Amino acid sequence: MCGIVGYIGPRSVIPVLVGGLEKLEYRGYDSAGIAVIENGDFYISRVEGKLAGLRDKLSSEGRYSLETDKENNIGIGHTRWATHGRPSETNAHPHTAGRICVVHNGIIENYASLRKELQAEGCKFISETDTEIAAHLINKHIGDTNDLYEAVKTTIKQLEGSYALLVSLKDDPDTLILAKDSSPAVIGLSENEVFIASDIPAVLRYTKDYLILEDGDTAKITKDEIYLENNGKKIEREVTRVNWDPITAEKAGYKHFMLKEIHEQPNAVTETFRGRIKPQEGEIVLDGIKDEDLLNFERIVIVACGTAWHAGLVTKFYIERLTKIPVEVDYASEFRYRTPIINEQTLFICVSQSGETADTLGSLALAKEQGAKTLAICNAVGSTISRRVDNIIYTHAGPEISVASTKAFSTQLTAALLLALKLADLRKTITKKELSKHLEDLMLLPSLISSALETDKQVEKIAKKYGKTEHLLYLGRGLLYPIALEGALKLKEISYIHAEGYPSGEMKHGPIALINDELPVVVLFGKDGQNYEKTMSNLIEVESRGGRIIAVTDKAVPELKDLAWETIELGEMSPLLMPIVFSVPLQLLSYHAAIYLGTDVDQPRNLAKSVTVE
Ligand code: M6R
Repeated sequence: MCGIVGYIGPRSVIPVLVGGLEKLEYRGYDSAGIAVIENGDFYISRVEGKLAGLRDKLSSEGRYSLETDKENNIGIGHTRWATHGRPSETNAHPHTAGRICVVHNGIIENYASLRKELQAEGCKFISETDTEIAAHLINKHIGDTNDLYEAVKTTIKQLEGSYALLVSLKDDPDTLILAKDSSPAVIGLSENEVFIASDIPAVLRYTKDYLILEDGDTAKITKDEIYLENNGKKIEREVTRVNWDPITAEKAGYKHFMLKEIHEQPNAVTETFRGRIKPQEGEIVLDGIKDEDLLNFERIVIVACGTAWHAGLVTKFYIERLTKIPVEVDYASEFRYRTPIINEQTLFICVSQSGETADTLGSLALAKEQGAKTLAICNAVGSTISRRVDNIIYTHAGPEISVASTKAFSTQLTAALLLALKLADLRKTITKKELSKHLEDLMLLPSLISSALETDKQVEKIAKKYGKTEHLLYLGRGLLYPIALEGALKLKEISYIHAEGYPSGEMKHGPIALINDELPVVVLFGKDGQNYEKTMSNLIEVESRGGRIIAVTDKAVPELKDLAWETIELGEMSPLLMPIVFSVPLQLLSYHAAIYLGTDVDQPRNLAKSVTVE
């Protein structure tokens, strides 16, 4: 959940570290720190709170210089999201012990017993963190030698849990040691310099070439050589070239990353289906998928968390409707701790933007153990989930910086639709002609999203009008029921307004008691079989109890004029595209409500972008 950056090379090191950490702030932002070697000793600076605080502190100390002053600069940095020990300057990384300085991402599960042992040996602990254990262990193992690499290797044998550990020794200004297990770590390569990071966007402005580390990897890093081992055996890893444009990771003129990412959706969904569909031939080509894995199973289990779980629910609707294959959807945090029924006849699908979510990874491990074939819908190329599944569909949304998922969600749904259509084609539950028609419809998706984005001004007005409300209800049926859940989650996450999403038909079984003349109720009203008439009845139930209806609809319906306080019209579309297009005004509603209430849109309180701990 934390972010790590390291550097060895001729650049002035502090701006490289702080700039890199700023790109990782979405991974955690309750405290931050850096350590650099200067004149044979560590200069360490740490703050509680966001990176801006660290930058200010360094500037006020005259340290934040963009000038290159020496041939060889070395340093490590960290942005933290607390797991062991509250957010504070003392608990902020880097942590030191003797000649060692460490930054760490992950959780050392056996830290309590290790801490006791080390205390019995006389070690004094300053912080409440699990990381400080690692610093002390390495310091103990290095003894009087200068062999940092061996000391780190001995240490990690004692650690249980997850880590990306980046370690510096004050007597060695040329070398950093990196060890990785269950937390992401990459090494960015460039001439005469080297960058280390938990995630590529941190150093993307400097290099496109990366070594992506696997679990069990240890690296001895100097600017001239990277020596790699996996579980003690020397290895080589291929260099991965990442063709992301660093500009795509910037705000590109928008006030917030979230707004930028909402507006990127027409392009993002195009990237998801680009090169994968041939409407005229009725053909879908999914590179990372083995056809035989889509043919030989009886049922599907989908597991995910948060917004990705909502994408999982839509995936179930798509697959069951198009293929008649039974699909279950579960929260990853629930799935992994019950006794789920999984076997060789199960296709296990996980949906994850980051590909690093701890509960999703845990569920994937369980499904594999029990013999399921696995598939992921994932955005982060090279992420742990993407490497561990048998089949992968990348969403190609590009980096999503805002904590609240928007383009990651719409591209997950697009990828899910491609998967459902591919299954239907392989299993011959739709004709080629029907497939062609679905693919032609899919080609219209970017322009439908663009039209939905044009509701922005109207939605902004609605947000201002209802922004003072303390509660809000979202209702939807069928394919739009998961979107009601997603709309409510998005509003909660960034505006902190309490919101509930419900299937419209469930309203009279409880939530109807909430309806009075103060409660705004967002009703998703799309033409899809019987759902239309049924939703109209639910709308009347809300209206007759004084609820303030905000209707989102695919086409103008005369009756709505009398029932709804506000109507957001999106235009007609294929029912299968509704979940994607209807999400857009709900994202905008959350965004404008948050702006109206003055909350931190991109980094809402208590949340982190990538939840890599349970
Ligand atoms: O990276 P993942 O897709 O696995 O993340 C899952 C959830 O943590 C994530 O979707 C979360 O709910 C977002 N903050 C929603 O906006």
